[in-house]
Amino acid sequence: MDLLHRPRRLRKNDAIRDAVAETRLHPAQFIQPYFVKPGSGYRDPIAAMPGICHFTTDTLVKDVEAGLQLGLDKVLLFGVKEPKSEEGEAAWSERSVVPGAVRALKQAFGSDLYVITDVCLCAYTTHGHCGLVHDHEVVNDASVERLTRMALAHAQAGADMVAPSDMMDGRVGAIRRHLDAQGFTGTALMSYAAKFASAYYGPFREAAGSAPGFGDRRSYQMDPRNGREALREALLDEQEGADVLMVKPALAYLDVLARLRARTDLPLACYNVSAEYSLVKTAAAAGLVDERRMTLENLHAFARAGADLIITYHGREVLEQRWL
Ligand code: PBG
Ligand code: ZN
Repeated sequence: MDLLHRPRRLRKNDAIRDAVAETRLHPAQFIQPYFVKPGSGYRDPIAAMPGICHFTTDTLVKDVEAGLQLGLDKVLLFGVKEPKSEEGEAAWSERSVVPGAVRALKQAFGSDLYVITDVCLCAYTTHGHCGLVHDHEVVNDASVERLTRMALAHAQAGADMVAPSDMMDGRVGAIRRHLDAQGFTGTALMSYAAKFASAYYGPFREAAGSAPGFGDRRSYQMDPRNGREALREALLDEQEGADVLMVKPALAYLDVLARLRARTDLPLACYNVSAEYSLVKTAAAAGLVDERRMTLENLHAFARAGADLIITYHGREVLEQRWL
C-alpha cells in the first residue's frame, strides 16, 4: 500500500511510545483520602471499599508515615462522627476528630505532609444532609455560616488547605473572608466546584455514615444532565477566591473537566470517587478486568482531560505496587 501517514510507526515499542506519551503521572499529583474516627488503636476495613480502612488518629499517623515513604505527601481527611446531632455542632468544634487528627499529623510530619480537610456537615448531622435543615429544607445561608466555622477550626488546627464539599451557594467567598479576617490568609481553598448528585457516592456514604435520612441531595448538588451549569458553578468559585477547582465524580464527567480546563487558569482537581474505585476493585476481584491496567487507564484519562491533582483511593496501592 502506498501510505504516506502511518501513525503506527510511533507505537512500535516502549521506547518510542514512552517518548511520545502526552501525559505522565507523578506521585505529587495524588491526594489520598482518609476516614478518621474518634478514639484510638482502631484500623477497620470498610467493606464497601476493598483496601480502604477507618482509622483513629494514632493508626492514621502510622499509615500516613508509610505513604510518605512512597512519596504520597497529600491527604484529604474526612471525619466520621458518632453520635451525630441535629445541627452537627461537632463539625466546627476544635476538640473534634478532624482538628485532632490535623494537629497530630502536623506534629509528626510538619511541612513534609500537605493536609487537606473536607468541610461539610453531612457526617455530623442526624439527618445526614450537607447543611442545616429547616422545615424539611436544606437552608443555604445558615449552613454557610456553620461551614465557615468548620473551615476555621480546621485552619486553626493547622490544615494547609480546606475543601468545602457541600455545594451551598456563596460558601467559597464566605469561607475565604472568614479565614482572612481571622488571620488565616495562607490557608488554601480547594472548592468542590462542580459536584454532581451522583450514584457513585454509595460506598462513601457507608464509610462516612453520611447517607441522607430523608430525600436526596439534588436541591444542592448538580444535575448530572448539566455541563454548562457546571462551568458556571466553577467560575463563580474562582471569582469567590478558590485556589483550586474540583470536578466530582471524575470518570463520568471528563467532559466537564476538559471544558473547564479551557475556561480557567486555576489548577484543576478531580475526585475519583468511591464507586468508581469499588467498581474497579470488585471487577478485578471477579477476574473480569486487569486491575493495574484499568487503574492506570482511568488515572491517565484524568490527566489527559486536564486534571492537575487527582484525589483517588487507588493512590497508595499504585505507589506500593510501583505501577507508575
Ligand atoms: C460529602 C461528601 C461525599 C463525598 C465526598 N464528600 C458524599 C456525598 O456528597 O454524599 C463522596 C466521595 C466519594 O464517593 O468517594 N459532602
Ligand atoms: Zn456533605
